[in-house]
Amino acid sequence: MGDGRRVLTPWIWLLLVASSPSPGTSICPSRCSCRDDTLSASCVDTALEVVPIQLNPDVEVIELSGNRIANVHYTLTFYTSLRILDVSLNKISSIGAKNFEAQAKLETLNASFNIISTLGKDAFRGLKSLKVLDLSHNQIESIEHGSFKDSHDIQTIDFSHNRITSFEDPTVFNSITSLRTLKLDHNQIIDVPSLLLKNLPSPCVLEKLTLNDNLIEVIEDKSFPPPCAQSMKVLTLGSNVIKEVEKSGFDSLHSLTCLDLSYNNLTYIPTQQLSKLNVLSELDLSGNTFHSVKPVAFQSLFQLATLTISRLPHLNWVDSRAFVDNIRLDTIHIDENPELRRIPTRIFHGNPHLSHVSLRSNALATVDVSHFPLDRLRSLDLSGNPLHCNCSLHWLWKLAQTESQLPSRDSIPLQGNETSPEGQPQLRIVVRNLKCSSPEGLKGQLVTEIPESTVRCETTWLTVAIITALVLALFGATCVVLLLFSSERWLCWCRKGKHSPEPEVDTRRLAPSLHPGSAPPPILMLMPDKHYRDAILSNYIKSESDMKLAEPWMNGDARQNDYSVDMTSSRSKPHIVYV
Ligand SMILES: *[C@@H]1O[C@H](CO)[C@@H](O)[C@H](O)[C@H]1NC(C)=O
Ligand SMILES: *[C@@H]1O[C@H](CO)[C@@H](O)[C@H](O)[C@H]1NC(C)=O
Ligand SMILES: *[C@@H]1O[C@H](CO)[C@@H](O)[C@H](O)[C@H]1NC(C)=O
Ligand SMILES: *[C@@H]1O[C@H](CO)[C@@H](O)[C@H](O)[C@H]1NC(C)=O
Repeated sequence: MGDGRRVLTPWIWLLLVASSPSPGTSICPSRCSCRDDTLSASCVDTALEVVPIQLNPDVEVIELSGNRIANVHYTLTFYTSLRILDVSLNKISSIGAKNFEAQAKLETLNASFNIISTLGKDAFRGLKSLKVLDLSHNQIESIEHGSFKDSHDIQTIDFSHNRITSFEDPTVFNSITSLRTLKLDHNQIIDVPSLLLKNLPSPCVLEKLTLNDNLIEVIEDKSFPPPCAQSMKVLTLGSNVIKEVEKSGFDSLHSLTCLDLSYNNLTYIPTQQLSKLNVLSELDLSGNTFHSVKPVAFQSLFQLATLTISRLPHLNWVDSRAFVDNIRLDTIHIDENPELRRIPTRIFHGNPHLSHVSLRSNALATVDVSHFPLDRLRSLDLSGNPLHCNCSLHWLWKLAQTESQLPSRDSIPLQGNETSPEGQPQLRIVVRNLKCSSPEGLKGQLVTEIPESTVRCETTWLTVAIITALVLALFGATCVVLLLFSSERWLCWCRKGKHSPEPEVDTRRLAPSLHPGSAPPPILMLMPDKHYRDAILSNYIKSESDMKLAEPWMNGDARQNDYSVDMTSSRSKPHIVYV
């Protein structure tokens, strides 16, 4: 305590001593609530203009948020046991110097939502136990060298929503050995503060760095230098103006599990750069300007579990092989892409762990059932698409009917975990905004409310005819094949293959069946042997048209293939298959 008092000017000293509380006579200002059992004092939203100095000197927690306190000069000296101080939402314009010298036990200092603009070199002097420092929502532009030299144990620093453009002194955190979280969102930072990271003590334990809402344009090759690159797990770079990630931009981030690159100016997916993030499990690329998701766009991201590619104004194509490397994919969001009119079939069939698919508010008119591994999915959101409700969506209609019979259908948590009575994971689908856009008669109607007849596939006479024709054709083909390979011919062919002599055919045995009057047209199998040919011809080719039909093999250029002559005009109409 002595140290703290030495800095006070004499008259304040006297004033403070005069009003200094003696044990047992602490005063709790009106509108505050003070508890001696928990050693806490709370004066939230009470229009206080100064830090009360007559609280129990053993107080450990002081909450002063939402007041009109303009500074903390000389007022904390008595509270040497303080562990938590909340002066957020006040009018503090400066932390001053050496105001925390007596707070060797202070662990949490919340000075967010004030108007602090600079941090002098002695601003936090004496805060040896500080673990959490929240200075977000201030107007900090500069942080002087040495500001943090006493605070080795800080784990979390929140500088978000300030006016930092860069760290003039990149060694400002170099005595903080336990910094795990550094929040720098919503400043005016134009480059990843790589020097700052480089100067953190080694081994670095920084796990989370947030840089959302800044002005970063390029992720350079050495943006994330050792020692911290290896420890970082979460990196957010959303809402910057990143248009390029240099080739080795993400190379050393071997522990990164979560990366946010949403709302930047990327015109392509940096596949190569991302492929170095071999334990990445969560990736957000929403709000960029790329047009397509190419094959294997997320190459080598074998641990990727959650992927978000939403609000992409130009996205019009996702390749069917886009996600083949992402074998652990569990949740995918492809929402609000106004140009996305179709997705390829079986796009998710290489993702055996996929359970949650959201394709909300795209421009999909139809969605084939084969897009999804329905047996594995647990949630599916297709709402907000301009669906054309025809029989291709019968499957969806059926799912929607089942869904609308389940309780609590209004809110389906996308991470839902419901199981059916049999204990199987149950597919929940979002039906709330699942509407038809066409045909005209169904426009604007919920899929759950249209009758089944509108989406049932009718079998028209044309389909019946086509299917019948197909079946007949198949039957015919089978017959011909069976015929050609029926035992005798098959044997012949085999023997021919082995250069064995031609089997002898007795034409006289064939003759009776070729006589007129026998009801079904006989089928005649012939070998290309001259005297057999002559015998047949002399017997059965009577007219000139018969002659024409038989010409190819008459001329001796008949191929060794199957060849048939249908002697339609002859009285006996034999069907000759020439082998
Ligand atoms: C600091 O105070 C603000 C406003 O009261 C609050 O929102 C924030 O969560 C607090 N920060 C910490 C680290 O508790
Ligand atoms: C980034 O994209 C935004 C919105 O698409 C655009 O307004 C801005 O001009 C772009 N900035 C750069 C630096 O390309
Ligand atoms: C249903 O509509 C979609 C979209 O217009 C179309 O691609 C599909 O072929 C239609 N299905 C049938 C069976 O007509
Ligand atoms: C979902 O179910 C799994 C396995 O039963 C369980 O481990 C997990 O904690 C559940 N998650 C939620 C959000 O309930």
